[in-house]
Amino acid sequence: MRLLEKNTYEEMSVLCGRILGAQVLLKPDCALGLATGSSPIGAYEELVRQYEGGLLDFSQVRTVNLDEYCGLKAEHNQSYRYFMEEHLFGKVNIKKENTFLPDGCAGDVEAECARYEELVAGMQVDLQLLGIGHNGHIGFNEPAEDFAAQVHQVKLAESTIKANSRLFKRMEDVPRSAVTMGIGTILKAKKILLIAGPDKADIVEKALYGPVTPQVPASALQLHGDVTVIISKQ
Ligand code: GLP
Repeated sequence: MRLLEKNTYEEMSVLCGRILGAQVLLKPDCALGLATGSSPIGAYEELVRQYEGGLLDFSQVRTVNLDEYCGLKAEHNQSYRYFMEEHLFGKVNIKKENTFLPDGCAGDVEAECARYEELVAGMQVDLQLLGIGHNGHIGFNEPAEDFAAQVHQVKLAESTIKANSRLFKRMEDVPRSAVTMGIGTILKAKKILLIAGPDKADIVEKALYGPVTPQVPASALQLHGDVTVIISKQ
């Protein structure tokens, strides 16, 4: 595990964007595992800057996102598909057909979970980007009795609903469930890159140095052989 400390969100974002960009340079047809939330926005801005500067070509890149809310259509401005279009996909030359997220509106959610698990496994993710929730969740793997092995539907923790309500008009509008890669799905990525701001310092410490337990889902990253964590002090 490599821990890199940066002073500011901007510095963390530039470094994170450079590592993601380096992956694209090294392997132009790589598979990137992507995340949503406030944490990766600056890293996506850095990727867009590199693309606009002529340094990166996304024409062969494939992406899989960690998760999607249940019940929000792709056009909803809080869906994770919308987020990805707004912050990255719509700003670089990635092909839309090479970008994948779970379908949060699938009629048969179980079948959708199985389809997405197979898709992610088939992609062999080269580099998986992660944020972390205040309760240690990664993707939408909330604290639980067991580590989920595969893509599954999850009931969101009250604290997650509250935290994410800042982005919705009303608390009632926040979806109560989501489809997420399981911890097992995430750990299959060849490399993992986690970013976290100062408000996550305590949970990052627990996850990286505490016991490996499904009560702190991110602690499972200790079981992976190639994890880089970038934290910002402010
Ligand atoms: C959401 C996402 C996670 C993300 C987390 C933290 O619930 N499902 O993938 O890491 O929140 O978000 P933020 O970076 O906004 O704190």
